[in-house]
Amino acid sequence: MIPILNLRCYFSIDMKHLLSATQFSHCDEVEELLDKTSYYKTNPNDGSISTILKNKIICTMFFEPSTRTRLSFESASLRLGAKVISCENAQSNASSAKGETLDDAIKVIAGYADGLVIRHPEKNSLSQSSIHSTVPIINAGDGNGEHPTQGLLDLFTIKEKLGTLNNLTIGFVGDIKNARTVHSTIRLLSLYTGNTFKIITPPTLKIDSDSIGDVTRNGNSVIELTDWNGHIESCDVIYMTRTQKERFESSQEYYAVKDNFILTQDIVAKMKKNSIILHPLPRVNEIHPSVDSDQRSCYFQQAHNGVFTRMAILEMLLR
Ligand code: NCD
Repeated sequence: MIPILNLRCYFSIDMKHLLSATQFSHCDEVEELLDKTSYYKTNPNDGSISTILKNKIICTMFFEPSTRTRLSFESASLRLGAKVISCENAQSNASSAKGETLDDAIKVIAGYADGLVIRHPEKNSLSQSSIHSTVPIINAGDGNGEHPTQGLLDLFTIKEKLGTLNNLTIGFVGDIKNARTVHSTIRLLSLYTGNTFKIITPPTLKIDSDSIGDVTRNGNSVIELTDWNGHIESCDVIYMTRTQKERFESSQEYYAVKDNFILTQDIVAKMKKNSIILHPLPRVNEIHPSVDSDQRSCYFQQAHNGVFTRMAILEMLLR
């Protein structure tokens, strides 16, 4: 059933920038965003949507490669009636290539736009530099730190598919040490109750304790594993990740672990009938393409949900 929502309602959370999932302190704050996301997804013909950010300019500045995050933010901005300016290859095309600091870049572009969507290779760089911005900054990924907007769209997709964000067993598989999306997703899920997070990694890619913080409140628990045998069957969600080649010190270390976990039809056959498979994408070879047609595979729908989630986020910060 399509929820009846007041499109004009405002958000109870008072947030200047969106830098980390830790800015949410209660699941009700997340629910407001998910409800708004649902409205945008189910009411594409509501003409008033295209005037919500009329006269606003959004700047997307990406110091690392991106397909989904940048383009879905730009699509979301245009759907809300904003205009977009973009620097898609900032590491080599912006003045950082001449030695300009992120602080200086932000001081300048904050004068050109009403909201900044930035991806940067250094963990915590956006939190530190955001103090120089007079306009909202959205963290579109900071190194192996966080990716809060992906976390929100992951939660939207899980709720859309399974109907709840409580009492789930979620297997996060692969390079979880470096998977910034997972760091945000787990933090957001820990606002809900009774979830079990099975973190399944090669032994050399275990999570650092500070990357997700303490997520064991509200009856949630974390189990760290290096093998998925015997665990696939219990998961409501299998969340696959790419081994983050660009974050390894040597290619030798990368090649030693890159194929440790590959989801094939044989493994999917062990999953619960009503479970789902997620992946923030891009996929390299950690999910075999033959799995795509399985009804449990939701990663392309997950990517599509990014547009509606980011519409809700832009509205929350900029309206
Ligand atoms: C992820 C990212 O950039 O962290 N992609 C995304 O934004 N959807 C995952 C990745 O690069 O592996």
